[in-house]
Amino acid sequence: MDASSFVCEAFFSYLERLFRISVNDIRVIIADFHAEMGKGLSGDESSLKMIPSFIDKPKGNEAGEFLALDLGGTNFRVLAVKLDGKGNAAVQAAGKFAIPQKDMQGTGVALFDFMAGCIDAFLTENHVDRGKTHDLAFTFSFPVEQTGIVAGKLIVWTKGFTATGVQGQDVILLLNEALGRKDIRCINITALANDTVGTLAAGSYTDPACDLGVIMGTGTNACYREAISRIEKLNMVNANGHMIVNMEWGNFDKIRRTCYDRSLDEASVNPGAMYLEKMVSGMYLGEITRLVLMDLIRRDLIFVNESQAAEYFQERGSLKTEDMSRMEGDRTDRLDGVSLFFKRNGFSNITLHDKILLQQLCRIVSVRAARLGAVAISAVLTWIDPKLKDVHTVGMDGSLFEKYPGFNTKMTGVFEELYGEKAEKITLVHSKDGSGKGAAIIAAVAASSEAGKD
Ligand code: GLC
Repeated sequence: MDASSFVCEAFFSYLERLFRISVNDIRVIIADFHAEMGKGLSGDESSLKMIPSFIDKPKGNEAGEFLALDLGGTNFRVLAVKLDGKGNAAVQAAGKFAIPQKDMQGTGVALFDFMAGCIDAFLTENHVDRGKTHDLAFTFSFPVEQTGIVAGKLIVWTKGFTATGVQGQDVILLLNEALGRKDIRCINITALANDTVGTLAAGSYTDPACDLGVIMGTGTNACYREAISRIEKLNMVNANGHMIVNMEWGNFDKIRRTCYDRSLDEASVNPGAMYLEKMVSGMYLGEITRLVLMDLIRRDLIFVNESQAAEYFQERGSLKTEDMSRMEGDRTDRLDGVSLFFKRNGFSNITLHDKILLQQLCRIVSVRAARLGAVAISAVLTWIDPKLKDVHTVGMDGSLFEKYPGFNTKMTGVFEELYGEKAEKITLVHSKDGSGKGAAIIAAVAASSEAGKD
């Protein structure tokens, strides 16, 4: 082995150690997670906001037709959902609209006007009768201090959104105002929910064992079903019953970060926040990998024959999580899939060795993400059921979980390491379109609990 290969190998084993989440680390993280959950529920200072949703799981017999909105990632979606009352939620029409950067990071009025414009187009395209009133559920996938099923103020933007004049405001009010500006009078907003809550609602509509809703996509977060008496900050200690709690776990901060995580955080639009999300979710994995790659380039350990690479990867966002996903999933001998990325970007002097290193790096970063995701799930499950006596279905949604090669297996590996045979009690189920369908289910739950009051 020549000197440079030796240095390269040594550096990679250093990276492996740096990004490794050992079983010992896991036990510490779970204990910290539990402590933060307890503090969040009692209203003490905590990195976990533990936000009550004012809604419980559905019973499975909710029925009706609803419109649903989904804002929280790169696309805004409008859906028409039909619930048959027998556990089936069918998406009858769907519209997907890419959110322009200028609206994501401009004014709140522009962002909500963009949404109202999409709703308008959806209604027209699908010949929705504007003479009738349509109940609508709004999945707004950001930390919202909910004060009721259909009211809540945005606490803080996450996932790169910075639209002004929204933080601290009631998002239902803002949406109603935007609908008014577009003269859309046929919509009655009946529910506001986080995407995790929608995912749990969708999962448990069909499977009563589903007690956790998890998103691993652009961002990451989870919600679960909590006894109302344990949500001390609600001051309802004598109350019976359960309520779904949106944890906002992306902000969990009792976690060892690397120098790459710190650089990423410092350059982000929300420095000092969302540490777990920045290590786990799709919005950030490409960027972490790019930062390590820049370090490798600086040390002359990769792309030594391709001088343009340093310049290319200098730019923030030049490596996306989707690129990593394609590279890591490349099973060809000569890594032709990895080559495609370079050909597309005009590089010709990339060696097989470079491609192998890059694939290895993607794996190091994605394994840590999947393991941390699994650790967070384990923490919530053992909070609900410390000895794992029951079976648990985890409703999962998000592009990372759905599309990143091997993400699921990497996660379930952690359950096996921690719980041995009992790991079989945990099932991760992909709840496709969960957040959209779930919003409609929540609207139906809200309607039936309103009806129950009469
Ligand atoms: C971010 C948001 C959170 C959402 C998650 C997944 O973490 O703050 O509300 O659930 O992304 O979309």
